[in-house]
Amino acid sequence: MKAIYLDYAATTPVDAEVIEAMLPYFRDTFGNPSSIHSFGQQAHSAVEDAREKLASFLGAKPIEIVFTGGGTESNNFAIKGIAWANRKKGNHIITSAIEHHAVLEPCHFLEREGFEVTFLPVDAQGLVDPSDVAKAISDRTILVSIMHANNEIGTLQPIADIGKIARERSICFHTDAVQTFGRMPFTVGDLNVDLLSLSAHKLYGPKGVGALFVRQGTRLEPHMHGGEQEGKRRASTHNVPGIVGLAKAVELAEKAMAEEDTRITGLRNRLTCGIFDRIDRVRLNGHPEKRLANNVNISIEYCEGEAMILSLDLMGIACSTGSACSSTSVEPSHVLRAIGLSVEETRGSLRFSLGRYTEESQIDQVLEVLPKIVKRLRAMSPAYRSSTAGSATGG
Ligand SMILES: Cc1ncc(COP(=O)(O)O)c(C=O)c1O
Repeated sequence: MKAIYLDYAATTPVDAEVIEAMLPYFRDTFGNPSSIHSFGQQAHSAVEDAREKLASFLGAKPIEIVFTGGGTESNNFAIKGIAWANRKKGNHIITSAIEHHAVLEPCHFLEREGFEVTFLPVDAQGLVDPSDVAKAISDRTILVSIMHANNEIGTLQPIADIGKIARERSICFHTDAVQTFGRMPFTVGDLNVDLLSLSAHKLYGPKGVGALFVRQGTRLEPHMHGGEQEGKRRASTHNVPGIVGLAKAVELAEKAMAEEDTRITGLRNRLTCGIFDRIDRVRLNGHPEKRLANNVNISIEYCEGEAMILSLDLMGIACSTGSACSSTSVEPSHVLRAIGLSVEETRGSLRFSLGRYTEESQIDQVLEVLPKIVKRLRAMSPAYRSSTAGSATGG
């Protein structure tokens, strides 16, 4: 049986057209974009074309795009860059409890440097309440950072509303859009953001390249010191093939997004309904409607996530128990804890994330295999057996 990949939130395969677009920049047009000879200038043109493409897709100006080494770097640059540039103005940052570690960890780092960080709670479906943001703002607040969509449970935040509040108070607003960029249509104007992080490997582009949108006039302290690349905002020789690949991935996303959104939403609903029809004692994590089209996050009672993942993997099906970055950790997911799940419930969680190459037959294969795995694992669970003693239900 052909392997079934349902972990597109962790990363995506690089599209064949993206690889084609990148190849000449490894050998033929290999110059350093900072060099003034023609090798360099050809590479420079490719970088600037990519910047224009990305800017136009985001409704931004080319000068507002800074290429980075991925989503983690973009988040670090946005958060530390704003904090360091504004430390005379204030030392307070507002974020949420369910951010990716690439936002939480820079915030913890800044706490050790004397900044104060408010980690706003979320409701049971993972939503931040914009009025909580308004209440948390003080005259020391210099940055609000709230993610566009959560990578584990898929909940989409009311970013435009939060951005409006931040703008009314003249506070910088950053969003981590790594999970939504190229998957759903938006511009930086729609979202009312000053800073936005994105990463190529979530949209069928290469790993290790991303960008940060920085609204013109927003002052950021560089966090990489060296050469004068990216308007002195981010030192280091450009990753030209990576940047070209990111731009090609954006071009493909632009063409495919509407059709993919409808198709993937249909497949996601088929998977969710199919699981609920076939397995009892299961809950959907995240918001039922305000969620990423490709995300199904569930908790199955009396089953360990790791045991389910390994059993599915043996059947050629790849999914995840939480974010890829925490799949080696035994700590319960901070996102699932924040929406109110018990440690037990977090342990029984599975995340399926669908993408460009997901087919209906693959979803049906999961629906065939998963109930059998759950039944087998539950049969080995004394807690499950005692919970069903005297009743005829199984599953
Ligand atoms: C929401 C979110 N932010 C940031 C990142 C980190 O991006 P990168 O892997 O490009 O560093 C990820 C990756 O999983 C993510 O899902």
